[in-house]
Amino acid sequence: MKKKILIINGPNLDMLSKREPEVYGTESLDDINSNTSAYAESLNLKCDFFQSNCEGKIIDKIHSVLTEYDGCIINAGAYTHYSYAIFDAIKSVSKPFVEVHMSNVHKREEFRHKSVISAACAGVIAGFGSNSYILAVNALNELVK
Ligand code: DQA
Repeated sequence: MKKKILIINGPNLDMLSKREPEVYGTESLDDINSNTSAYAESLNLKCDFFQSNCEGKIIDKIHSVLTEYDGCIINAGAYTHYSYAIFDAIKSVSKPFVEVHMSNVHKREEFRHKSVISAACAGVIAGFGSNSYILAVNALNELVK
């Protein structure tokens, strides 16, 4: 049966294409999602997408992974750096999660160097722009096989 994955984007990622293009590029989230979806299809994965600027909505969606998906890719935006609630939510779901960042957070401000969610995830991909999502699909594909 076709495996189902979910890609969650957190705060301010709905602003891609307008937001700091020198950091995040000029593609919109819709552009990135449609390229990622096509790539996932080529691996025989069904891919759903969710974006929210609200921590609680992101947490509710993480919980849905338990019953509705085989695995999840998450770019939690700035919540990455301080949301223990998102860490706990991922820990409460026994499915593989891949943490993604478009930018290389380690080359940026110090507060971005620390992720409080990494320890709940199978691995982290950062620094490859929109290609980070494609790399994450490849990584998650191996984990859901
Ligand atoms: C980000 C990096 C975070 O530090 C930042 O708050 C974001 C985007 C990235 O994709 O590079 O919103 O997760």
